[in-house]
Amino acid sequence: MKKPVCVTVTGAAGQISYSLIFRIASGEMLGPDQPLILKLLEIKPALGALRGVKMELEDSAFPLLQDITCTDNAEIAFKDSDIALLVGARPRGKGMERKDLLEANANIFSSQGKAINEVAARKIKILVVGNPANTNALIVANNAPSIDQKQITAMTRLDHNRSLTQLAQKIDRPIAQIKRVIIWGNHSSTQYPDLHHCLVGGTPALPLIDNEWYVNQMIPSVQQRGASIIKARGASSAASASNAAIMHMQSWLHGSKDGDWVSMGVVSDGSYGIEKGLVYSFPCTCADGDWNIVKNLEINMFSRQKMAATETELIEERDAVAHLFT
Ligand code: NAD
Ligand code: LMR
Repeated sequence: MKKPVCVTVTGAAGQISYSLIFRIASGEMLGPDQPLILKLLEIKPALGALRGVKMELEDSAFPLLQDITCTDNAEIAFKDSDIALLVGARPRGKGMERKDLLEANANIFSSQGKAINEVAARKIKILVVGNPANTNALIVANNAPSIDQKQITAMTRLDHNRSLTQLAQKIDRPIAQIKRVIIWGNHSSTQYPDLHHCLVGGTPALPLIDNEWYVNQMIPSVQQRGASIIKARGASSAASASNAAIMHMQSWLHGSKDGDWVSMGVVSDGSYGIEKGLVYSFPCTCADGDWNIVKNLEINMFSRQKMAATETELIEERDAVAHLFT
């Protein structure tokens, strides 16, 4: 029997977690023969609801799930954690931008970064989902100096998946034939869904669509998709966000497949001229539990401007929370 992997989920009584935790416990994220223990973090007022989640986990009789800890203490939740999914944060409501959450959520990520720094496994892999995800990940990175920044990522896989489906529907081709979509930058309305390198059945995607649709419909619709869901559902995306978190971790842990790329918010190494240290979404490949930015892509003037606009927003967000960096 393999040694169990310790997985921490924050915001464990919230909407995303209600889907996410059960998929993790079933083995979907780590693999069908990998035992795990769950450490679930919530704030005190939500511990009652979390007790109910724990009861449902028990009633699911997941063979791989060896233990469940529920706590409102970050040092207990992150103790020896191998994987942390940082979901716990306020979601936005109608009419808000994700960066409007910065003030409400930033302190959560500075204190959790400090706890991770003290007690987590040194090789911990971290995915930040709580918004604004890129800058919250930056806060974690700056409060956990003993953790390699390569182990701290933010989620743009939902935007990546949204782009795949929009294109597949437009050209009436299966999603499985579409490869090398890219999301550049921030998980926000400035993000840049880039189809310039995208392939459909091995041939370039752009000649299959008209530029007007790409520029004036697809890009804004992916940028605004989160807001459209809030308008329709009265609450932010949850099952699709949980699905994207599982896919992000599957790629990172088990590798990206078939020459495809995945979009991940990662600490910039200066690639493509993006300011070093920002958490920016790049096209990545994953292998052996590691990720690497896809290098040397040709970037035209249109893309360059879009990539710079989302970088500018991330610089503004970083400057607004710089007082939280240790
Ligand atoms: P939710 O309000 O249903 O759940 C959030 C949970 O976090 C709540 O149960 C709350 O009690 C808990 N929480 C708050 N502060 C905490 C803390 N300090 N420690 C631990 N738990 C804490 O929200 P949700 O719909 O599950 O969304 C969670 C976050 O994910 C939001 O910020 C949302 O905007 C974001 N989100 C991101 C993406 C993405 O693609 N990156 C997609 C969807 C949602
Ligand atoms: C999303 O993209 O659906 C989430 O980030 C929620 C939101 O606020 O848009």
